[in-house]
Amino acid sequence: MAALVKRITVNDIRDMKQNGEKIAVLTAYDYPTAKIIDKCNIPIILVGDSLGMVVLGYENALPVTMDIMIHHCKAVVRGAEHALIVGDMPFMTYHISVEDAMRNAARFIQEAGVQAVKLEGGVTVADKIKRIVDCGIPVMAHIGMTPQSINQFGGHLVQGKKLETAQKLVDDAKAVEQAGAFSVVLECIPLRLAALITKNISIPTISIGAGPECDGQVLVTNDMLGLSDFTPKHAKQFAKLTDIMTKAVMDYQTEVKAGTFPTKENSFIIDSAVLEQVKNKLS
Ligand code: KIV
Repeated sequence: MAALVKRITVNDIRDMKQNGEKIAVLTAYDYPTAKIIDKCNIPIILVGDSLGMVVLGYENALPVTMDIMIHHCKAVVRGAEHALIVGDMPFMTYHISVEDAMRNAARFIQEAGVQAVKLEGGVTVADKIKRIVDCGIPVMAHIGMTPQSINQFGGHLVQGKKLETAQKLVDDAKAVEQAGAFSVVLECIPLRLAALITKNISIPTISIGAGPECDGQVLVTNDMLGLSDFTPKHAKQFAKLTDIMTKAVMDYQTEVKAGTFPTKENSFIIDSAVLEQVKNKLS
């Protein structure tokens, strides 16, 4: 009988902060990518609404719907048996009412099979986080440059550089901790502010553009594999898959045109007698 694979839990993630063990988080949107990431023992896979840009080609994440997220989460769940899988709640699926937020969070758990949800915001969504957590659904919070508010921010601008906005981020971090979030993503905030928040809350902080002193780091997998149209300052390309894929596609076309692919080795055989009979019927 195959050994049962233990899935990472929110308790394991909390323990990692306690033990000073850095938490590496990656996004995935499909089965093969989730499978590779899971095999590498990445403890958290985030099915981010960044898929709107990096997979679906939209300008931002705002057009992403619950149905799109559920579809991609299901594929990731089929590919990852070890990582804690977090589904990203799309724009306007948790803002209208607490009931709406709870219903949509439940869809992620019941329909998609993920173990946790993520939502953007601090003080203003703390009531929703609390009610979702009270239902037994773990929540990853997300503060700072929250991409669903891009029109309000006026672009992908670093948040928390001034006294008022820095204080707001501290208040947001405390609010989501109090509401019961098991971790919080800090996006595009100054590294010393991120370090201060990390020291002053009990839940793990996950950096994306918030520097090295957070408890963990998250990257959009397409950015770090060199598959995105553009690599943000806070990301690092660990491979250039666009170049590798482009070469493979060009080589394929060259071989098809030259008749060097496919060969007999890529083909199937038929019994000569059968072929003779087919031929005879043709003539
Ligand atoms: O949508 C996403 O991938 C995210 C991460 C960048 C944190 O929210």
